[in-house]
Amino acid sequence: MHEPSVPPWWRESVIYQVYPRSFADGNGDGIGDLPGLIGRLDYLQGLGVDALWLSPIYRSPMADAGYDISDHRAVDPLFGRLEDVDRLLAEAHGRGLRVLLDFVPNHTSDRHPWFVESRSSRDNPKRDWYLWRDQPNNWRAAIGGGSAWTWDEGSQQYYLHFFLPQQPDLNWHNPQVVAAMHGVLRFWLERGVDGFRIDVAHCIGKDPRFADDPRCLAGEVMAHINDQPYSHELLRGLRRLVDGYPGERVLVGEVNIRSTERIVEYYGAGDELHMAFNFLPLDAPWDAVTFRLCIREVEALLGAARSWPTWVLSNHDSSRHRSRYGGSLRRARAAAVLLLTLRGTPFVYQGEELGLEDAQVTPQTRVDPGGRDGSRAPLPWLREPPHGWNGARPWLPFPPDAAALSVEAQEASEHSTLRLYRRLLAIRRASPALRLGDWQELPSHPEVLAYRRQRGGDLRIVCINFAGRPHAFPLAGAWQVEIASDGQGDGASFGGALAAEQALILKPREG
Ligand code: GLC
Ligand code: CA
Repeated sequence: MHEPSVPPWWRESVIYQVYPRSFADGNGDGIGDLPGLIGRLDYLQGLGVDALWLSPIYRSPMADAGYDISDHRAVDPLFGRLEDVDRLLAEAHGRGLRVLLDFVPNHTSDRHPWFVESRSSRDNPKRDWYLWRDQPNNWRAAIGGGSAWTWDEGSQQYYLHFFLPQQPDLNWHNPQVVAAMHGVLRFWLERGVDGFRIDVAHCIGKDPRFADDPRCLAGEVMAHINDQPYSHELLRGLRRLVDGYPGERVLVGEVNIRSTERIVEYYGAGDELHMAFNFLPLDAPWDAVTFRLCIREVEALLGAARSWPTWVLSNHDSSRHRSRYGGSLRRARAAAVLLLTLRGTPFVYQGEELGLEDAQVTPQTRVDPGGRDGSRAPLPWLREPPHGWNGARPWLPFPPDAAALSVEAQEASEHSTLRLYRRLLAIRRASPALRLGDWQELPSHPEVLAYRRQRGGDLRIVCINFAGRPHAFPLAGAWQVEIASDGQGDGASFGGALAAEQALILKPREG
């Protein structure tokens, strides 16, 4: 395969994850919604991202915050109405922003009419749309870690669920399920969405023998290890469908397996996912060696397969990276330089551009059965409490320092994290080397990670000092600091040293 001369839009894009419940509230009920999001599109356009991915907005009993869908073709009243999606698409497209929705193929809600029918009797025509067995095997569910099988008293069999018992797994080995789920994709593609993030894309094909998995004995959950050939066949089907629509619609899959080697497989021969998440950096500590090995591996394995990488530091399932880095804003800002200058498509999780930490959630304020509330806290828009969330108290507490980290406060301050992200995004947008260039590691002290990005005549060097002390980073030639993570030295000529936990983008000195 050769590289297309005009790369598809998503290779040059930065994608922003919106967690709709916590982004902005349009009607004052304390839960973010689509009108709230539409009202803040100017903010996202001003930030300089290219596309939004929305976590699920469909009708749901909310056992798993919307990842338990009871109607794939309706918007949950908490978030708005179908017309709000149309308005979002029009308003976003009008600002040059693309919109991806979350597609959840592995399971539905137990209240989905399909499952209600399926469980109603053993000879119901939809019985086989889910996975029913007389005997459970040893598979374990995520979120809680108990058995992946729940006994149904009414029909006297067990059904399979890789997540909560309220999320029964669909049987994709049944062609009617495939057709029904293809119909769901068509419904949204025809409304004009630009693609989908596919929830646990590696889970849809199941071992047809339902063999016990020894890793479950060791406490592993199936959602992190399931890896079946049939999933690839199904993904090829989804890809063919999506490619049948004009406008380069994109599929980004959540392949929640911690192995780059396995993840590459989900790009197929360019006929499965356009992009797959690689979550190693989502767990990685603030450590140069860990990042160096991870990036080298991605460059080697995805590079050889001509598969386009993705980079993610935070999302709605994990602790925010600032919190994982010991609460250090300095490290979080240096990490932003890393995230936005690697080769591949970066995903920014809402609020990381504000340098937010996880909210402190107590047993009284806890909502998620999986303990993931910390990173799902509402965004502080205004300095004054309730920070732009007028009306009912928001569904989760605000993150620490909400006033100082609010959008309003950071707009006003030249050295804020928000302004850093904006400048980084603008620099990336203006630099072919950073968007599309080759990645080449440069020799440096082990605690410093340094690389060169080049495309044609455009050239950048990026260096990140992970250490709590300064390091020399001598370079031949004359270089100038395009941007520094700590705001120290922007525009100055580079003196060959990095401050503690500082990251720089360098460009050849002009004149
Ligand atoms: C994915 C989602 C997570 C959800 C799970 C089940 O991992 O990101 O939030 O709980 O799938 O749908
Ligand atoms: Ca609301």
